Amino acid sequence: MAVRSARIIATGSAVPDKVLSNADLQRIVDTTDQWIVEHTGIHERRICTDGEATSDLAVRAAQQTLARSGVSPEDIDLVILATVTPDYAFPASACLVQDRIGATNAGGFDLEAGCTGFVYALCVGAAFISAEMYNHVMIIGADTLSKVTDWTDRATCVLFGDAAGAVLLGPCERGSGVLSYVLESVGALGHILDIPVGGGRCPLTPENIGEGKHLIQMDGHEVFKQAVRRIPQVSQKAIRKAGLKREDISYLILHQANQRITESAMKRFGLSKEKVLSNVDRYGNTSNGTIPLLLDQANQEGKFKPGDIVTLVGFGSGFTDGAVVIRWG
Ligand code: UT7
Repeated sequence: MAVRSARIIATGSAVPDKVLSNADLQRIVDTTDQWIVEHTGIHERRICTDGEATSDLAVRAAQQTLARSGVSPEDIDLVILATVTPDYAFPASACLVQDRIGATNAGGFDLEAGCTGFVYALCVGAAFISAEMYNHVMIIGADTLSKVTDWTDRATCVLFGDAAGAVLLGPCERGSGVLSYVLESVGALGHILDIPVGGGRCPLTPENIGEGKHLIQMDGHEVFKQAVRRIPQVSQKAIRKAGLKREDISYLILHQANQRITESAMKRFGLSKEKVLSNVDRYGNTSNGTIPLLLDQANQEGKFKPGDIVTLVGFGSGFTDGAVVIRWG
């Protein structure tokens, strides 16, 4: 039995300056502001410029986190970057971040678990700390989905944006910090949200690039259905594992994909609206960026009080889902 747990020492985040509004999208594809708002709740999103990549946002989020933490970069033991849009196939973007933030004594690796990656990474980092292997682990969720979005497909391009968020984990007594987590995957559903070419199975060819197969493909209905079914289940499992009840949750931060998914899933879970945070209207779905971005914004607003039960829940390609329950402070 672990004698210690992991807590969030500080949070940070970063988004590109460029705003892409629904009105802007109306000029790119056959859509309307009304359709996008009614079907997704999204009003605008942030998009990188051509020269900006995932590690640039990740570095900004990690630097802000470090500055707020009082921990020096040399004291970071490990950098884990959850992303589906790394700068390169290899080397890992986490290593680029590790170098640029001056974490000279840290190891680094990327973690890929679809949009659930940040939740997975947080649990992996917490496990290293609980096992007394490491004292300070930087967890970053960062993505630039705009680089792999099909800007001719109105069913997907209105959904996505770019962002990064980070947390620095450090040790605490058992009973505080990370209380429990559940990580799940249903590999048989991998095809409902994927980029089918560009890997070892189907290398890039002029033909498949011409067909847009190197960009995000999605069965939106199936993703919606799976998400709404699985989110309440995994949330319930994690809460029960922590020895708590649904009513004990102070705040729940769900992967920001679509406001309708959030509302349907939370209705099924039976959590009251004021406990469910949201910023999808301003940033859209930024994949691994959504949860740490919203967590940081709520933290900076002073929402969380010591002892609050904050639950983070993700879902995404894989099909993956996961939940982590944290006692704040
Ligand atoms: O991290 C996870 C990532 N993925 C997701 O979260 C996606 C989950 N799925 C969804 O959010 C929703 O399924 C969508 C937002 C993608 C689609 O919403 P929907 O309410 O399921 O719409 P629909 O696919 O049933 O489409 C309804 C109509 C269709 O027209 P017809 O066939 O009824 O004439 C679509 O062609 O809306 C049309 N449509 C659009 N119209 C205007 C689809 N996209 C657009 C658009 N603007 N952007």
